Amino acid sequence: MKAFVDKDICIGCGACTGTCPEVFEMDDDGLAVAIEDEISDDLEESAVEACEGCPVDAITVE
Ligand code: F3S
Repeated sequence: MKAFVDKDICIGCGACTGTCPEVFEMDDDGLAVAIEDEISDDLEESAVEACEGCPVDAITVE
């Protein structure tokens, strides 16, 4: 599984980095970015939780 943040949608609320800091971090522009690597099995649940918790649905996991 991989995660992506659409920076055109992200408002920089930071919720994802709080929920799953192993996968999401705030970039220099104040918007979130996801790691480019494949998400390990033990992090999938919290990555999905971060996706579902984004207030503007900027995160895609697939
Ligand atoms: Fe942005 Fe959503 Fe995370 S608004 S900072 S992608 S929770």
